[in-house]
Amino acid sequence: MYMNYKEALEALRRLDREYRHLTHVLALLQWDQETYLPKDGVEDRSEQLAMLGGMAHGHLIDPGVGKYLREAGVTEENPAGDERLSGEDRDFLRVFSREYYKAVKLPPDFVRYAAKTEGLSQAAWAEARQKSDFSFFMPHLSAVVEIAKKRAQYWGYGDRAYDGLLDIYEPGMTEGDVRAIFDPLKIRLKELAERVTAKGPRPSVFSGFAYDSGAQHQFSLKLMEYLGFDTKRGRLDTSAHPFTTTLGACDVRITTRYLAENPLSGIFSTIHETGHAFYELGMSGSHRGTCLGDGCSMGIHESQSRLWENVIGRGTAFWTGLFPLLRSYFPDQLGSISLDAFIREANRVALSPIRIEADELTYSLHIIVRFDLERRLFSGGLSVEQLPHAWNTLMKELLNVEVKNDKEGVLQDVHWSMGSFGYFPSYALGNLYGLQLWKKLCADIPQVDDHIAQGKFDTIREWLNQAVYRWGRRLRPEELLTRATGQGLKADSFMEYLEKKYTKIYEL
Ligand code: CO
Repeated sequence: MYMNYKEALEALRRLDREYRHLTHVLALLQWDQETYLPKDGVEDRSEQLAMLGGMAHGHLIDPGVGKYLREAGVTEENPAGDERLSGEDRDFLRVFSREYYKAVKLPPDFVRYAAKTEGLSQAAWAEARQKSDFSFFMPHLSAVVEIAKKRAQYWGYGDRAYDGLLDIYEPGMTEGDVRAIFDPLKIRLKELAERVTAKGPRPSVFSGFAYDSGAQHQFSLKLMEYLGFDTKRGRLDTSAHPFTTTLGACDVRITTRYLAENPLSGIFSTIHETGHAFYELGMSGSHRGTCLGDGCSMGIHESQSRLWENVIGRGTAFWTGLFPLLRSYFPDQLGSISLDAFIREANRVALSPIRIEADELTYSLHIIVRFDLERRLFSGGLSVEQLPHAWNTLMKELLNVEVKNDKEGVLQDVHWSMGSFGYFPSYALGNLYGLQLWKKLCADIPQVDDHIAQGKFDTIREWLNQAVYRWGRRLRPEELLTRATGQGLKADSFMEYLEKKYTKIYEL
């Protein structure tokens, strides 16, 4: 049947809508698995997820999709389709066809083999980590690296296989682009970390107290409302690892976790995930429920969570308004702690071998270690066997940390076991994107600190909405940043911010 380009576009919009519904239902089942699923329900749930995942994938690679794309004027060289379409329609086609080509270029046999191998690898990783024994995990990791290389080959890449993997998380960014930013950044971060640690370790002011998880949860609920999270459009629960997931245009779920000995973990996880949720909920109405209604890149998404968590949430202005409330939840534990002491605690630098325990200053160095190892794994400069030694050497060199065993070294993160190579850089890129945006925001809203101290966040959210949220995936990361700040990605705003902050807190 002949279709004109407009009818083809309508057919694709319908298919895309159904595909998003399926992925949101999948997300709901996964959310449930991480929060409320009874232990013995796991087996059936895995089958349900696998079946529904297969259905969603089948929907995306349906032969009809390729036909409609051609009729809408889309080719790999012209992913935005017929030039007579509107800018938004062309962006829709560009983003949708990108997903379609990535999916359809992988042969079904390969997809099945990869899913099975990566599943086994993840299980082997969990066991190896428990035993702190890399050799047990090594053959699995080798297989998973080969799969990732193959995947990059199927997709096609410019210079390096690693570029093809980075592109999933940061569209358009190459290994060379990341190195151009990370290489000078690591020198500046290392130098600043050395000046801070030369001041000697600071003990935690929280030690010796217990913080009831029920009270922590009540405070977190208050906190998300204080920030302006609309609880008619989302909710807060707990899980082993905090996350944000979108189940529909007006349903974004966040989770946090509470440690009995330290309330900061729960507080900052809640703020972090609220930052992700603001982004998801702020997308323009016409993008919601379509492929455009998603984050522009992993790094840009992470910039939003880190901005709220670190830049706003760890600042003095923020707690000027909120500390009395926190104290009212924990009068015995925090009664004698001053606001200044609390802020010092929230920004305490403590060298750790573990990434997720790292402070704001050293966190990006943990990422640079992983990036350096990943890119060498894919260029052939490093073998899987050499990984633990190379890891420990870099940790010593960049962070001055002695790694005692594989568990607190190369086995600490789940990402590689699942084949997620190229993901790590987004975390550090998020810090850089965030501070570059924040610097411009502060220039545009000079009274921002007063607003924060008053618990008034709508001006900040409105600025972020204009610059980031509303666009969804219509802009590429570099475009979004240049449009908002007038320049491409640089590390300068991030480093200026860290230098100013730690000079004050550590009296450098
Ligand atoms: Co995050």
